[in-house]
Amino acid sequence: MTDTLPQDPPGKYDDEIDRLFSAGGPLAPSVGDYSPRTSQTQMAKAIAHAISEQQTLIAEAGTGTGKTFAYLVPALLWGGKTIVSTGTKNLQDQLFLRDIPTVRAALKAPVSVALLKGRSNYVCHYHLERTLNNGRMTSRDDVGHLREIQRFIKMTNSGDKAELAKVPENATIWNLVTSTRDSCMGQECQYYQDCFVMKARREAQQADVVVVNHHLFFADVALKDTGVAELLPSANTIIFDEAHQLPDTATLFFGQTVSTSQVLELCRDVLAEGLAHARGGPDWAKVVTVVEKAARDLRLTFPQDSVRMSLAQIPQSSDFFPALEKLKEELDGMIATLEANAERAETIEQCRTRAVELAAGLAGWKPDGKGKMVEGDEAVLWVEAFASSLQLHKTPLSIAPIFSNQREGTPRSWIFASATLAVKNDFKHFTSQMGLENERARTWPSPFNYEEQGLLYVPTGLPDANSFGYTDAVLDCALPVIEAAGGRTFLLCTTIRAVKHAAERLRTEFEQRGLNFPLFVQGERGRTELLDSFRNAGNGVLIGSQSFWEGVDVRGDALSLVIIDKLPFAPPDDPVLAARIDVMEKKGMNGFMHHQLPEAIINLKQGAGRLIRDEKDRGVLMICDGRIITKPYGRRIWQSLPPFKRTREQADVIAFFRDKSV
Ligand SMILES: Nc1ncnc2c1ncn2[C@@H]1O[C@H](COP(=O)(O)OP(=O)(O)OP(=O)(O)O)[C@@H](O)[C@H]1O
Ligand code: SF4
Ligand SMILES: [Mg+2]
Repeated sequence: MTDTLPQDPPGKYDDEIDRLFSAGGPLAPSVGDYSPRTSQTQMAKAIAHAISEQQTLIAEAGTGTGKTFAYLVPALLWGGKTIVSTGTKNLQDQLFLRDIPTVRAALKAPVSVALLKGRSNYVCHYHLERTLNNGRMTSRDDVGHLREIQRFIKMTNSGDKAELAKVPENATIWNLVTSTRDSCMGQECQYYQDCFVMKARREAQQADVVVVNHHLFFADVALKDTGVAELLPSANTIIFDEAHQLPDTATLFFGQTVSTSQVLELCRDVLAEGLAHARGGPDWAKVVTVVEKAARDLRLTFPQDSVRMSLAQIPQSSDFFPALEKLKEELDGMIATLEANAERAETIEQCRTRAVELAAGLAGWKPDGKGKMVEGDEAVLWVEAFASSLQLHKTPLSIAPIFSNQREGTPRSWIFASATLAVKNDFKHFTSQMGLENERARTWPSPFNYEEQGLLYVPTGLPDANSFGYTDAVLDCALPVIEAAGGRTFLLCTTIRAVKHAAERLRTEFEQRGLNFPLFVQGERGRTELLDSFRNAGNGVLIGSQSFWEGVDVRGDALSLVIIDKLPFAPPDDPVLAARIDVMEKKGMNGFMHHQLPEAIINLKQGAGRLIRDEKDRGVLMICDGRIITKPYGRRIWQSLPPFKRTREQADVIAFFRDKSV
């Protein structure tokens, strides 16, 4: 229940927390320009109390308040075995490389800390070896990257690809040399002793504090493959930072996905293993060919790429349904053959298990035309077509029952922290999605004076946000402002395409105008490296999409202008969103007002929150999307933002930057 009492009940750690967070306390010397923040101290007390009583607490405090220390201090001192889960991999790195070492050293806390990411983040010795032996590199880049990776694994302790800044995170080579669940041989692997994935898990098992991310946490519930499940039983404290993301992430993973490429991969392995261990048995080529054909035919029932469609949207007459039945049938045939040969080799038995799992995933797909599961739970079935594969997803619309189930059992403390959980002091939107209705929830006010520290600027004269050439219009308008700010800018875009376009254009413009603001572009280098260089540059311009909107912390002068290109509404063609809205509208609610708008407001508040991170920070938030003024719902958006002073005049912005040395 929402607690409106101004004062929390006294907790046994209150005095200690007052001391730790005081101006003369141990944190102060480790944090430059430290000054006690009441909201932070109170939040820390409430968290310490929840930890010591093994309770659940939903804790909200504005962006930049210092929530990280507010949960790390009690967790490191009294949390016992603690799992900290955060929204993205770069926030994991920020915690593991920067914040936890700071707090641990300041408190002299004798705790061991481990970082655990998903498999695909680690170089796999076996895949690397195989790729080196096959030697069929498609591009010069690949060859160069591969050489870097070979050098890297001799130096690294973790094998985490984020550590190798020289190879961009989206380089194609990573797919060939990182670990995957389906082809990992586990204990049978000759590299098992040196394996980075196994090492990360062993370390997590032994550590006092383990840093994970929400994807990994929830993926484990579905796959039991991330190493989190082994950690859970002994965990005393579980902290979710950026907890507002949980409903979406959890939904993704409490669902199931089957793809035609999984079927094709399986076929490839069946053929290889069959020929290796059961030659002379069945005609393996024939066994797999029919399944492969059925999988390819199923993909071809959607003529275009990148289609997302719910089951209900697929016409009953579509070839999809007969093609799906055909695939099920052929897969069953292959399962029978595998079963008959399972005793010949462990690897054939593994293939059989995979085939059975795939068949089970397909079984729920029946054309009842309503998008409802056979079991009758509220899930949406939807397909997504890529260039060469088709994915079939089953996504639950409510995760509350599943998550409540997860929290039952061993008593422990669950902390949900975020800047954006409540809407006008009401946590219901969040708690009902997560099944946390009866838990304690608290909000602490922001320590900043937005009216004096910040300016919200919505330029005039920009075209419609969906019109052609919009990004260029945004850049035209942004350039003089960036110049007035002396760089020191985050340009946050809603799409990757806009990031790329803005990067190209700004690079040219800076050159032509003789502006030497270093440009940092998401995807071109590792995120931690991008942020570190941005902080150090002092006049940088960083262009990023979603993963830079949240949690990212650049305190002080290095960041003084945040530009947001468009209001961050989720794409309306998203089938899960469409199904959610459908359910809401059946209950008489307005999907836009009750779901899309609040979600967009949360995103926007997060993006805006990168700006002011300290009592002394000053800066301009520039929102280019005119809908914030022209649309009836616009008022609700800007009223939800911190109380910045507002303007529509570029001259005010230029004056703001000139007036005081920021
Ligand atoms: N008491 C303090 N005095 C000065 N600086 C502080 C204090 N507490 C935290 N900081 C610094 O303030 C900045 C913001 O802290 P932090 O990143 O924890 O904010 P947050 O509440 O998690 O915000 P968000 O919701 O955006 O993630 C960091 O640079 C942090 O080191
Ligand atoms: S155990 Fe699995 S992840 Fe590790 S090296 Fe072997 S195949 Fe790769
Ligand atoms: Mg944070």
